[in-house]
This record gives sequence, structure tokens and C-alpha cells, in this order.
Amino acid sequence: MTTDGTQGNEFDALKFDLSGKVAMVTGASRGIGKSIALSLAACGADIVVNCNTGGQLAEAVRDQIRGMGRRCEYYAHNVADESEVEKMRDEIFRDFGQVDILVNNAGITRDKTFKKMTREMWDAVISVDLTGVFLVTKQFVDPMSERRWGRIINIASVIGEIGNFGQTNYAAAKGGLIAFSKALAREYARKGVTVNTVAPGFIKTEMTDAVPAEALKAVTDATPIGRLGLPSEVAAGVAFLASDAASYVTGHVLDINGGYAM
Ligand code: NAI
Repeated sequence: MTTDGTQGNEFDALKFDLSGKVAMVTGASRGIGKSIALSLAACGADIVVNCNTGGQLAEAVRDQIRGMGRRCEYYAHNVADESEVEKMRDEIFRDFGQVDILVNNAGITRDKTFKKMTREMWDAVISVDLTGVFLVTKQFVDPMSERRWGRIINIASVIGEIGNFGQTNYAAAKGGLIAFSKALAREYARKGVTVNTVAPGFIKTEMTDAVPAEALKAVTDATPIGRLGLPSEVAAGVAFLASDAASYVTGHVLDINGGYAM
């Protein structure tokens, strides 16, 4: 007997098998989102890729996933724009019929000390990293609950837990995302939908390529594991949360940060 009461080997869930599921990953043209999309495809899911610009990066991810034998399309829409998100929902439901797993990964930074932070920098980060998650989740969570199975996985950041110099906007958005996820988890827990957050530490992507080398050295010095993380190490946590193995996990914040904060 499995955890959901169906017949089967109790260890089947440990295969993280997502065959027959459709997983949508926002911001999946590169970096952590790309790695998450590829990992969920490796687990057997068909993949909906979102990013704000299409082009070669998105096409390469799509082609790589198709090469793994999975269905994949990409949708170039801004998650912070409500009408674009609604258009994207219509296109995805037309093409895939449903979304079972939603990974809200798209995010941006606009770093400055608070003294120099402008209203535009504040609004830009809040609108993509927090409002974008609200807008996208709104389109997909209720259809999941109607089918009594769904996974929402939000990519926050260690910065949303402990703050960071020069990132008041980003810390507010990511801290807000953690709180949002816990509140949503309570609302959907009895409807078959789990809502969890992954909080990565400093991961080697183009986002951190923009961070000055001495700042990154200070981070690795303060990280017990002694290096930056890899996108695939974040994706592994997402694959667990997406799987049936995580059926009793909701409202959780999974730290993947090499021990940087604990
Ligand atoms: P990245 O900058 O390499 O990739 C960002 C992705 O988001 C791209 O695919 C881009 O097209 C997409 N995107 C940006 N704005 C968008 C919008 N308005 N609508 C749709 N898509 C949009 O970023 P990275 O490093 O891969 O980060 C991914 C997520 O992980 C972000 O939410 C970030 O805040 C978070 N994170 C990253 C860490 C790191 O060290 N790289 C650490 C902790 C969290």
C-alpha cells in the first residue's frame, strides 16, 4: 500500500517518477530554471518552459527536453504582466490540457543600498519575484485542486530568510514569497495540492556571475561546504518536492545553501 492508499510497492515513490505529469517551470531558459526543467524531464514529466524572451536559449532547452523523449514547448511571456499570463494559460491549456506541477522560478535582482534604491528598482523586483508568482499561481492552482493532485514549488532565496546588504527589495520579495507559500499551503492542503518553497544559497548562474568576485569569496568563506552551489543541486530538491515521495510535505522551506544559513 502506498501513502495515498493505492496499491503498489511502498518504495515506488522513491523513484521520483513523474511520468504522465505536466510540469511548468517559469524562468527556465537558463540557470536554475533550466536545470529544474531538465531534471523534471529526466524524472519523466512533460515540460512547459516559460521565460520572458524566447530565442535561442529557450529553443535549446526545448530541443534538449524533446531529445529526452518528453513533450516540451516554450512560452515567452512576462510573468509580471497579468494579461500576458492569462494569454499564456490559454496557450498552455490548449497545448497540454493541464499543469500538475508549477515551479515559480523566474526572478530578477536590482541591487543597491537602501539609500540609493529607487522606486523603479523596488517595483521591478517585487513585480517579477512576488507579484509574478501570485499571477501565475492564480491561473493554475484551482485546476490542480479540481483534480485533487498538484504541486506548487516556489524558488525563494536564503536572502529572504536572513536579508542581505544591498538587497532590501529582493529580500522583501523572497521573504514575502516564503510567507505567501505557507499561507497558500494551508488553503490547499486538503485539496491535494502541496505548496513548498526552496531557498537556495549562492548558486553558480549568470545571476551570481554579476556579483563581484570579492563578494563571492566572502560567501564561499562563510559557507561550511566551501563553494557555490550548482543549479542541479537545487533541481534535485525540486524533484523531491514534486514527487509522490513528498506527499506529506507542505508549507516547508527547503534550504539548499551548503550550510550558509542554518
Ligand atoms: P537567471 O538570471 O540565470 O535566470 C532567470 C530566468 O528568469 C531566465 O530564464 C529569465 O528569462 C527569466 N525571467 C526573468 N524575468 C522574467 C519575467 N518577468 N517573466 C518570465 N521570465 C523571466 O537566474 P537564476 O540565477 O537561475 O535564478 C533563478 C531563481 O532562483 C530566481 O528566482 C532567483 O531569485 C533564485 N535564486 C538564485 C540564486 C543564485 O545564486 N543564482 C540564489 C537564490 C535564489
